[in-house]
Amino acid sequence: MSAQLINGKAIAAEKRKAMIAQVELMKRKGTTPGLAVLLIGDHPASVSYVKGKVSDCREVGIHSQLIRLSGDITEAELLNQIHQLNVDRSIHAILVQLPLPSHISEQRVVQAISPEKDVDGFHPINIGRIVTGQPGFVSCTAAGILEMLKTIHLPIAGKHVVIVGRSNSVGKPVSLLFLSRDATVTVCHSKSKPLSLYTKQADLLIVAAGKASLIHADDIKPGAVVIDVGMNRNARGKLVGDVAFDEVKEKAGYLTPVPGGVGPMTRVMLLENTLTAAMRQME
Ligand code: GUN
Repeated sequence: MSAQLINGKAIAAEKRKAMIAQVELMKRKGTTPGLAVLLIGDHPASVSYVKGKVSDCREVGIHSQLIRLSGDITEAELLNQIHQLNVDRSIHAILVQLPLPSHISEQRVVQAISPEKDVDGFHPINIGRIVTGQPGFVSCTAAGILEMLKTIHLPIAGKHVVIVGRSNSVGKPVSLLFLSRDATVTVCHSKSKPLSLYTKQADLLIVAAGKASLIHADDIKPGAVVIDVGMNRNARGKLVGDVAFDEVKEKAGYLTPVPGGVGPMTRVMLLENTLTAAMRQME
């Protein structure tokens, strides 16, 4: 039996549609949600991602301010720019596009953003809030995965969730979120060998390793829910995930496609986090 696909593109489109009315209501109450996006340098992939974020904001009525800065800006100048945005009352959310040029410390930049405006959920205070179960901001990809799973009404408590990848933006926050929902969580990484020993046990497998065709049909349990976070270019330049889609779809219960799965959910959750930030700052 072929897996049911979880259509992130359609779920995200529905969510954007619902946000239009929500933004309209906020505007009537006197607040236009505002997102500042800082792009340092002209890395082509980053330029394209940032354009997508600005266009998403326009679609739902969020005010976006794109701040393009030269790749040779000093760290002090960038931190100063962030401090100004932290106190700007028309800006509720701040995103500094990563990666940064090598002469700038990512850690210092992330920590300079006010935690209440940190819609990436990368600030240690927001990570700490997930650990301790307090409301904060959850990384857009992690939040997007949870939203997708809501649509299939998957019970999480007692399930074995296996995550491949331990990044600060996906693997680590995802593991904490599932732990807080009473799942048994295993986090695998490049030194977890053999990887299939772990992935075969998963009721829910989340793959965020950044390696095309890492997971094959033999690596999963029949009927497993498989979430593919990977975004890789294959030899022909086509966008592919970390999961060998054609094989795995014959064995999984549910599967997310690439493109059209987690990617659009990550984008829409940035809008949702921005609305949340604006609402909290209105109170
Ligand atoms: N670069 C690639 N993905 C992301 C993201 O989710 N947030 C930021 N700030 N930079 C990125």
